Amino acid sequence: MNSPHFFHSKTARILAETAARAGIGIVLIQDSPEITGEILYMNSHMKALCLHSGQEALAGKTIQEILLAGSEGRGLLLLPESGESIPVEVVHCPRPLEDTPVDIYYIRDISDQIQKEKQLIEYSHNLERMVEKSTRDLQNTLKNLKETQSQLIQSEKMASLGQLAAGVAHEINNPVGFVKSNLGTVRDYFKDIFELFDAFDSLEENLENGKNTAETREEIKKIRARIDLDFIREDHQAVITESLEGMERVARIVSDLKDFSHTGKMDAEVTDIHQCLESTLNIVWNEIKYKAEIIREFQPLPLVLCVPQKLSQVFMNILVNAAQAIEKQGTITLKTQIQNSFILVDITDSGKGIPEDILPKIFDPFFTTKPVGKGTGLGLNISYNIMHQLGGDISAHSTPGKGSTFSIRIPLREP
Ligand SMILES: Nc1ncnc2c1ncn2[C@@H]1O[C@H](COP(=O)(O)OP(=O)(O)O)[C@@H](O)[C@H]1O
Ligand SMILES: [Mg+2]
Repeated sequence: MNSPHFFHSKTARILAETAARAGIGIVLIQDSPEITGEILYMNSHMKALCLHSGQEALAGKTIQEILLAGSEGRGLLLLPESGESIPVEVVHCPRPLEDTPVDIYYIRDISDQIQKEKQLIEYSHNLERMVEKSTRDLQNTLKNLKETQSQLIQSEKMASLGQLAAGVAHEINNPVGFVKSNLGTVRDYFKDIFELFDAFDSLEENLENGKNTAETREEIKKIRARIDLDFIREDHQAVITESLEGMERVARIVSDLKDFSHTGKMDAEVTDIHQCLESTLNIVWNEIKYKAEIIREFQPLPLVLCVPQKLSQVFMNILVNAAQAIEKQGTITLKTQIQNSFILVDITDSGKGIPEDILPKIFDPFFTTKPVGKGTGLGLNISYNIMHQLGGDISAHSTPGKGSTFSIRIPLREP
């Protein structure tokens, strides 16, 4: 292994050894037409790399015997004696000195780097597996949450159904009570009248048989006085009219309830917003009547395509909240108008209002300021979801101490 004459210069050696200190191996090879690849010189770092094989063992070897070129400037340094190999980075400079048939190879041991790369790949595989697992966990959690949410929505529905049932029972109980008592009165009236008829029958019989009728006529007079026929004549009308009205009220409540119970039928239908408001009011009347006077500020509205059952549910949640916000006595104002391509329904109560820090949370699921058993914190969240499903919106503003307004926007879809 003879260094070519130019490498005997001090400068060249200093450069080669400086490179060695920087961890770069330098190999010079012969590149003449007769001899190709014979190793002429190695700097000290290169010798250290080849230490296993021993410097002498490499004497007379060619670069091809110790270097296996790979892709992207990488290769393997083969140590023939030990049979081992080291991954290296290779820069090949063919004939840097024009008049000298010598090539230079710069070689750097990259075992550490390769090791780190392998680790990195392993890390990233692990990471991928971890991310996949977390994603799966998250998906499961999401699924569970969805199930829980629908269970809760169902239980909120049941809760409002319970509330509804109590209200309806009360509303129906009242007319049913007085109609029952009126029927009792009518039964007594009939009894009296038939008693009178019987007396008339006797009178008729006596007349036909030519008998004395004085006694029977006296009897008739007595009965008439006792049953107060004039009063019956007057009162029976009132009793029957009142009963008919009572039954009408019951029929109306039942028909309003039917609007509510069509849970499966969710197609849009021609809807009268005012009628929807009125029938919802009827249903929750029990919750409202002792608390608030209803003020209507209705503008004429067109019929729209909407889902009245859903809208009713929203109105009901807001009306019940409004009544609950009024401590003793107050008003609930229902204002309707057309605004751009929406129907705007504002429901304003004169209740206690909503503190500023609470206002942004009221549409959150489970947010409630009411005691356990009274509030679920789902009413407004459900209403919010419904309004967005319907292509509308719901928002709230409030002056604490004065009251709150809930604004419901329903898209003006004309049938
Ligand atoms: N009209 C209102 N006036 C004052 N506070 C209200 C009104 N409507 C809603 N809120 C507040 O918003 C909260 C959430 O309402 P909601 O979702 O209907 O749940 P819940 O009525 O079960 O508490 C209520 O607990 C209350 O604090
Ligand atoms: Mg509520």
